[in-house]
Amino acid sequence: MSGSANAAAQAGASKFAEEPAAILDQLRELRTHDAPTHGGHVLSYVYDPGLAALDDLAADAARLMQPVNGLDPTTFGSVAALERDLLGFVRGLLHGDADVVGTVTTGGTESCLLAVKTARDVWRLTHEGTPRLLMPVTAHAAFQKAAHYFGLTLDLIPVSETGEVSVADVESRLGDDVALVVMSAPSYPVAALDPIAEVAALTSERGIALHVDACIGGLVLPFWRGLPAWDFAVPGVTSVSADLHKYGYAPKGVSVLLQRGRDRQRAQYFATTRWPGYPVVNPTILGSKSAGPLAAAWAITHALGRDGFQRLADSCQRSTDAIITAIGNIEGLRVLGTPVGPLLAVAADRSAGLDGQVDPHHWADAARGMGFILQLQPAAAGIPPTTHLTITPVTESVLPELLGVLTKAADAVRGQPHVDATPLLGGLPPLTGPLDSDTAAAILAGFGIGAGGALPDALAPLLAIIEATPPPLAERLLTELLARLVEPPA
Ligand SMILES: Cc1ncc(COP(=O)(O)O)c(C=O)c1O
Repeated sequence: MSGSANAAAQAGASKFAEEPAAILDQLRELRTHDAPTHGGHVLSYVYDPGLAALDDLAADAARLMQPVNGLDPTTFGSVAALERDLLGFVRGLLHGDADVVGTVTTGGTESCLLAVKTARDVWRLTHEGTPRLLMPVTAHAAFQKAAHYFGLTLDLIPVSETGEVSVADVESRLGDDVALVVMSAPSYPVAALDPIAEVAALTSERGIALHVDACIGGLVLPFWRGLPAWDFAVPGVTSVSADLHKYGYAPKGVSVLLQRGRDRQRAQYFATTRWPGYPVVNPTILGSKSAGPLAAAWAITHALGRDGFQRLADSCQRSTDAIITAIGNIEGLRVLGTPVGPLLAVAADRSAGLDGQVDPHHWADAARGMGFILQLQPAAAGIPPTTHLTITPVTESVLPELLGVLTKAADAVRGQPHVDATPLLGGLPPLTGPLDSDTAAAILAGFGIGAGGALPDALAPLLAIIEATPPPLAERLLTELLARLVEPPA
């Protein structure tokens, strides 16, 4: 340590209530209880390129921008420069021309919210009444949140058992009150690539906006081999969301929303000069915000370039193909539908008979016991219970081990029926009105979920409860669970 750094450290030590080194030790200790973010053992939430140098670069870039306020690109010109560059990179990937402009947001949900808000405000220029948001039930829940926040009527189109939406069903629901249709590229629950070109032909001839949610696919599908056009190459697509903090491998907090047409995109902005402070004029939901994830994403795109992204996508494609083949060879399981991109859903193969079937939730619990964390998805909207896998470049480095576990976990639970939650639900008091917090906590405790929010080891019974509980009650109970998780001790 240099003399001045040493002096500063000594002077600093007495200024703090707790020593910085001890504080960081606490943080490290807390992190040891988390699911591992690197190494390919968690197949959702995290997107590990398997390149430590890329993570270091991202961390260094974020650190350099740490003190900057991303709110104001006029005061911090670096923010404008990074956004311009990053938007240009993603626009190029998504076949946008000079008429496509955009915004860097803090994540997929913010991009989806803003796509809906923009469409609503453009619709209102020429319509009155309540606008409708039309989308397959497999579109990400962020759009349900958007309809709720921004006062649109949510119109969910049913899908087939394997998650495909029919163009005729979309067409039959189009109308003058539809402010936005959402298609996914691909959808999260089943990885279906919605019929974007066919629906775009219908929406554009009626002047209806069409958003393509490529939050998960946006930085990987451009490199996926053998796909039909799904982005701005399709006339009639009016906006696309794409997350840099997924297959852009950036730390959480960065996504882009691209809109076709400046006039449309200007409706995304909120601007006011009607208060005595600084004019608030921005295209995002947040005000002050970190510029760190933006800088990290920007640095990663420069380090990888298109060739680097192609190599990582190729790795994902090899691993995904291998996993699909392996699951096809496991008696009692099946891959649902035709997944597009590096994610898939696995269901029980009913043709295997009761003894030969593998319940996907018991399977996920067994795989967890063997060191791989898969994501359980409840049966809903006609889609059976499934287990979700997100495949990332690092998956290839653990592929033989993963395939072995997928097979062994299936062998361990084959023939075990899906959990029947009816006996548990039988003990519920009749619900006559809104549930207060203590009653909700008592019901959770009855299900074996304690005040600390500690989840049971086996998640299959919990998912069965979610499947069997009427949605308003299940949503209230899960709210209680999450809210109590962050309550300070009494
Ligand atoms: C298709 C899709 N849209 C939107 C989102 C929401 O993104 P975020 O979690 O970054 O808010 C996700 C997240 O997985 C997604 O897969």
